Amino acid sequence: MNHTVFVLNGPNLNMLGKREPGIYGGKTLEMIGDECRDAGRTLGFEVDFRQTNHEGVLVDWLHEANDKASAVLINPGAYGHTSIALHDAIRAISTPVIELHLSNIHAREEFRHKTWTAPAVKGVICGFGSDSYLLALQAAKTLIKEQ
Ligand code: DQA
Repeated sequence: MNHTVFVLNGPNLNMLGKREPGIYGGKTLEMIGDECRDAGRTLGFEVDFRQTNHEGVLVDWLHEANDKASAVLINPGAYGHTSIALHDAIRAISTPVIELHLSNIHAREEFRHKTWTAPAVKGVICGFGSDSYLLALQAAKTLIKEQ
């Protein structure tokens, strides 16, 4: 078994650690990336962890996942709330995608309650801080087993 899981992070997530720690926690994205790679090793797959502030780059990475990844985790950041291009890119690929957020977007401002990505993904995990990533990796393991 040589599965790769893409973990894609959208805008402003490179600021984790400094950015509103009361909402997003004190860990940096690098720390979360290390935790994901460790968890991936335990679960039996390789984690390819990436971040970009650019919507089109996320679209390109989703297309790339179609050939290279067995599953995708995406924290689309604010683009989840705005991007029909991400919705379409998720629907364009056959690799299963899981959406995640550190914060509970449903308990925050109304403009965060809806994401355009949610109807296109397998499932959404939010509200568990950096553990949202680890829970989503567990879910990815189940999806990969089902494939
Ligand atoms: C976020 C939630 C979004 O509403 C916000 O724009 C982010 C981070 C989260 O992980 O909680 O950038 O995706």
